[in-house]
Amino acid sequence: MTTAPDAPTWRLVDAPHAPGVDHPDAWAYHGIADLERAVGLADLGHDDLAPRPVDLWVESAHQEHVRQVRVVAVETGAATGDEQGGEHGGDSAPRVVGHGALALPVVDNRHLAMARVAVLPSHRRRGIGAALAEHLRRAALLEGRSTLFAEVEFAAEPPAGAAGAVVPREGDGRVAADLPGMAFARRAGLGLEIVSRRSVLDLPLPPGVVEGFVAGAAAHAGDAYRVHTWQAPVPDAWVDQLAALEGRLSQDEPNGGLALEAEAWDGVRFRVEEGKFAERAKGALVTAVEHVPTGTLAGMSILGYAHDRPGLTEQESTVVLPEHRGHRLGMLVKAVNLREHARVRPATRRISTWNNETNGPMLAINVALGFRPAGGSAELQAPLAEVASMCGG
Ligand SMILES: CC(C)(COP(=O)(O)OP(=O)(O)OC[C@H]1O[C@@H](n2cnc3c(N)ncnc32)[C@H](O)[C@@H]1OP(=O)(O)O)[C@@H](O)C(=O)NCCC(=O)NCCS
Repeated sequence: MTTAPDAPTWRLVDAPHAPGVDHPDAWAYHGIADLERAVGLADLGHDDLAPRPVDLWVESAHQEHVRQVRVVAVETGAATGDEQGGEHGGDSAPRVVGHGALALPVVDNRHLAMARVAVLPSHRRRGIGAALAEHLRRAALLEGRSTLFAEVEFAAEPPAGAAGAVVPREGDGRVAADLPGMAFARRAGLGLEIVSRRSVLDLPLPPGVVEGFVAGAAAHAGDAYRVHTWQAPVPDAWVDQLAALEGRLSQDEPNGGLALEAEAWDGVRFRVEEGKFAERAKGALVTAVEHVPTGTLAGMSILGYAHDRPGLTEQESTVVLPEHRGHRLGMLVKAVNLREHARVRPATRRISTWNNETNGPMLAINVALGFRPAGGSAELQAPLAEVASMCGG
């Protein structure tokens, strides 16, 4: 039998879960991680954002707060040949050339479906992305979700006044309209709500810089505030307050018109996230500031890092309660955490952070600390009922 010349050489498969990330059935996690690394290197010039297989496996193994739908496009038939296979699943492991993921919050934001579609650069413009997107659109509809989110990362903003730049509904930033992900998402009917800026702080900082920020912020904050720093897991005495701060962050972060509601955080959820971090072979540094007269945690900042990626650390949450703002506590928790980070991770070469362009106060602190712009992401949204089928059916 011969294959028609225009027959697809790929098909969609639900990504199987497996008892462990090194199990042969975990091939999809390895395929997706390889694919995302290739996409990052080709589109962004780095693979800092690419998940490792264990990151994907852990998200699928713990779905109590966010459920995951994963579908992969794998090569079939004659085109598979010697391109197939890998360490995981041996030569029989399908070759992943595209993937689609849907994150479905289950304890809050139950209206949301957050989609990710990515296709190997060598396999684009063959309809794989459209087929993956259509699978996700239908899954989101079946789940009763009403709002679709997607993000498109970019390496650099087009210059001001550049033709073909898309501007968000709110806040600063621009995105090139001919970025493949932008063209694809806009064709599906998604609109650009805000731009999120990625910034990088190159390490090590010159001697005395962090200490200067700590001293300045501490002097401004005064004796009413006391700083605590822990390597996760945090002590039981503070876990509920740290969880409350995470909830507050989700409520207060300026998100423009994104249809986000506050996340429901408690100590149990905080411990689940800590446990997932540990399973992903990641560590976290948490610095919190206590308002001494009341014993209240007024703010906190978290740095997270994978032990097998010694060069890179990610800034996670930073928040200060509204009633404690204006005392330089945001700078204090970040600077103290940076000082501690230099002690425990001296080999790290950069810290990466994301801030919505609508979040002036947080951006100002990061710029003051020396973070430089390093690309960003388009934050896109549409009512699910208005998202176009990309497959004409
Ligand atoms: C966006 C992406 C998934 C598209 O995958 P793909 O397999 O090339 O997509 P398709 O071939 O199914 O394209 C469907 C339609 O999207 C639009 N499109 C896709 N890529 C485009 C590009 N580079 N320029 C203009 N339009 C494009 C076109 O309308 C296309 O239909 P057409 O080929 O008939 O003109 C892929 O480029 C990618 O992985 N980008 C990086 C990750 C990303 O940004 N993901 C999107 C956010 S979730």
